[in-house]
Amino acid sequence: MINPIYSPAADRYESGIRFRRCGRSGIRLPEISLGFWHNFGDVNPLANSLEMAHYAFDHGIVHFDLANNYGPSYGSAEETFGVMMKKSFAPYRHELFISTKAGYDMWPGPYGEWGSRKYLMTSLDQSLKRMNLDYVDLFYSHRFDPQTPLEETMQALVDIVRAGKALYVGISNYPTKAAAFAYEYLKERDVPCLIYQGRYNILNREPETQGILDQAKENGVGFIAFSPLAQGLLTDRYLDGIPADSRMAKEHFLKSSTLTPQMYTALVKLNEVAARRGQSLAEMALAWCLKDDRVTSVIVGASKVSQLENDFKALENITFSEEELAEIDQIVFV
Ligand SMILES: NC(=O)c1ccc[n+]([C@@H]2O[C@H](COP(=O)([O-])OP(=O)(O)OC[C@H]3O[C@@H](n4cnc5c(N)ncnc54)[C@H](OP(=O)(O)O)[C@@H]3O)[C@@H](O)[C@H]2O)c1
Repeated sequence: MINPIYSPAADRYESGIRFRRCGRSGIRLPEISLGFWHNFGDVNPLANSLEMAHYAFDHGIVHFDLANNYGPSYGSAEETFGVMMKKSFAPYRHELFISTKAGYDMWPGPYGEWGSRKYLMTSLDQSLKRMNLDYVDLFYSHRFDPQTPLEETMQALVDIVRAGKALYVGISNYPTKAAAFAYEYLKERDVPCLIYQGRYNILNREPETQGILDQAKENGVGFIAFSPLAQGLLTDRYLDGIPADSRMAKEHFLKSSTLTPQMYTALVKLNEVAARRGQSLAEMALAWCLKDDRVTSVIVGASKVSQLENDFKALENITFSEEELAEIDQIVFV
């Protein structure tokens, strides 16, 4: 059979997607973005990864989030994306907003992780080759490095933009104090930080409690939530045991020990609140993040298109009554 050439949906910007301005910048991001952390590696069938990326683009989800070591194996999610560029997306490069990162372990030896200029610059060059790109739209320092002077890490970001290898830069998983320094350093050099990427969901409120959301807003920096479904906990995935094809069954990034009896009870109760709203638990969990205008976008992961279809439906209702919010808090903070 001859492979059909990908032809994106003509109504991709009219299918319900909305865009939010990212801090004080010219960029608007889709309320839902697609993450390549899991299910896009060389261990995963390309056809499925491609189907998910096509579904996303066909629905205006134009922001794809990657990192140097997403896979497995490390680098292979970027390679998969590189294949997608060739097969499907090259004619639409200008419509896509692609991010990658460096910060966690990527290769052995002293230059393969953290925040040195050596690591960030070398890693981005490798990422661009793997992804078949001339530039990324957004490059992140993936985590704060307490050993490297922050000036060195930030200056590497500035120079990466000046070299035309990234259009914007961001930070991820930075403590508030380091984020304050980063925002100031980058602003002074006319390369303002575009966005902060942090874990945020119904079960994990750290960006609220640690002031990250307010701080980003005050500095004109966007905020993008990763793991908004708590890696799948905040879905119907684990309401009936641990499915063999689930992330939890792999016992790596999401351990079955997370699913304590208390957690299970909370998930069942949250699912009941969602059902009363006419939503799945996944829809409600995404809507819960997006109810806050300090949040620019949520990055979802998925292992199949049907999940993305469901996640996309969250956009149909992102408002909550005071009673619903109080009930959710009561369930989570027993
Ligand atoms: N900056 C950082 O340090 C950092 C860290 C982590 C993630 N991220 C980014 O954030 C992205 C998302 O992270 P994540 O994958 O943990 O996000 P998530 O959206 O919280 O979890 C995704 C998982 O939830 C399940 N799922 C999704 N939609 C579902 C639905 N409608 N019904 C049932 N199950 C559903 C799937 O689990 P199964 O696979 O079990 O089917 C999917 O793999 C990553 O890809 C990455 O781009 C960044």
